[in-house]
Amino acid sequence: MQRRRFLAAASALAAGTACTTACTTAAPLRSRGRVLSLGLIGTGLRGQVLLTELLRRDDVEVAALCDVEPRMLQQALAMVAAAGRAAPRRYGENGDAQAWRELLAQPGLDAVIIATPWEWHAPMAIAALQARVAVGCEVVAGITLQDHWDVLDAQLRSGTPYMLLENVCFRRDVMAVLQMVRAGLFGELVHLQGGYQHDLRAVKFNSGDPARPYGGGLEFGARGWSEARWRTAHSLRRNGELYPSHGIGPCAVYAGINRGNRFTRINAFASKARGLHAYTVQQSGGRPHPSTELDFALGDIVTTTLACANGETILLQHDTSLPRPYSLGFRVQGTRGLWMDLNRSIHIEGRSPPHRWEPFDAYQAEFDHPLWRRFAERAAGAGHGGMDWFVVHAFVQALKAGAPMPIDIYDAVTWSAITPLSEQSIAEDFRTLDFPDFTRGLWRERQALFALGDSRDPTLAAD
Ligand SMILES: NC(=O)c1ccc[n+]([C@@H]2O[C@H](COP(=O)([O-])OP(=O)(O)OC[C@H]3O[C@@H](n4cnc5c(N)ncnc54)[C@H](O)[C@@H]3O)[C@@H](O)[C@H]2O)c1
Repeated sequence: MQRRRFLAAASALAAGTACTTACTTAAPLRSRGRVLSLGLIGTGLRGQVLLTELLRRDDVEVAALCDVEPRMLQQALAMVAAAGRAAPRRYGENGDAQAWRELLAQPGLDAVIIATPWEWHAPMAIAALQARVAVGCEVVAGITLQDHWDVLDAQLRSGTPYMLLENVCFRRDVMAVLQMVRAGLFGELVHLQGGYQHDLRAVKFNSGDPARPYGGGLEFGARGWSEARWRTAHSLRRNGELYPSHGIGPCAVYAGINRGNRFTRINAFASKARGLHAYTVQQSGGRPHPSTELDFALGDIVTTTLACANGETILLQHDTSLPRPYSLGFRVQGTRGLWMDLNRSIHIEGRSPPHRWEPFDAYQAEFDHPLWRRFAERAAGAGHGGMDWFVVHAFVQALKAGAPMPIDIYDAVTWSAITPLSEQSIAEDFRTLDFPDFTRGLWRERQALFALGDSRDPTLAAD
């Protein structure tokens, strides 16, 4: 039996009728030992970071690579060769934007990682799920609200594992705070904040020179390079919380969203759009350039508010077009205190001096998550302060163990659907909308799963 059929058949058996447990369970990879055969669609700058992590592992064989940009594909192939690994099959060299479909048909593939522009995530994931190839998808599950239902339904029908590769959930301080939330240090949670506050002006515009992907020019679209090729178009056309998962992922895990809690209502407000225009004018040095004539739809600061069934509020901010140092702006607040990541500051009533902030360092040491305690050395040097090692490890380990995905299909579509819902709210004069229940009622029964840090957690296994 082909391995992927074996996986799907065992998965369907494990999940039982109607996939009521979200069908995130796969069988262990007994058919070919414990080496996972994996494909990567999108070998751009993010794909190459993930590839670096995959090539460090001896339980993964990178069997297929696909990209429509020859230079990106060549860079990835060179990385595989430099790691001393067998050459993977390659797809897309001829620029065929549908070549990934051939990759999905490659015999023996267990899983695929999708690291392409956002508009490709839903169609690629749906096709992979239909082909019974497990999916690790970069953040953003789809574009429209319907995309999110379609990805969910494809996953439920196929019973094939799907994980959103949301790496910030694995950030060291974020995970220490998770331990503190679970230990009750904040009391009962009341309010959370997060966001994506990252000056992307030099990502959205560059010179088009592959050697300088960040800044140094005013090009975008076909004349730009890497994210300037596709991301800038979203700022031109769309007004909403375009990148919710880095902020909402940790907040949703803290609040137990889809696991005893759920989002019930959402609205979003957008400021005026000035930052990108000011940037292009400044960069052009007064010379005429078409980019200075652009009219951006995306408000510079988009503020989204969510209400939860258990009474918490969550505030998200998307801020990518103004000068600012990077900060995701986390705040976790309950009846006994609060943590804010910006200044690495915390206040816990009865433990901190009254009305005073304490530095987070001592708490970080005391509540460091077992995953970090165990794997900090192995993660050293990996992307984003090590958290990229953890997200890849979690995906691979869950697949190998046939365990549920730690960030599963319900998490993925719930977090990512904030984008189309925020766009709708803004378009309808900041109207407050009902938040759809993607779990169709299962949220009441579902148990916490993410990073349990004990024997139930396959991510804790070393190999
Ligand atoms: N989790 C994180 O921290 C993080 C960081 C950066 C990017 N990302 C996400 O990763 C994804 C990729 O971003 P990136 O920075 O690598 O962008 P990128 O532009 O550098 O890479 C995307 C690649 O996809 C390729 N591509 C486009 N259409 C394709 C198709 N039809 N078939 C095959 N390949 C195709 C492009 O040629 C390009 O090489 C995005 O979803 C982005 O949001 C996540």
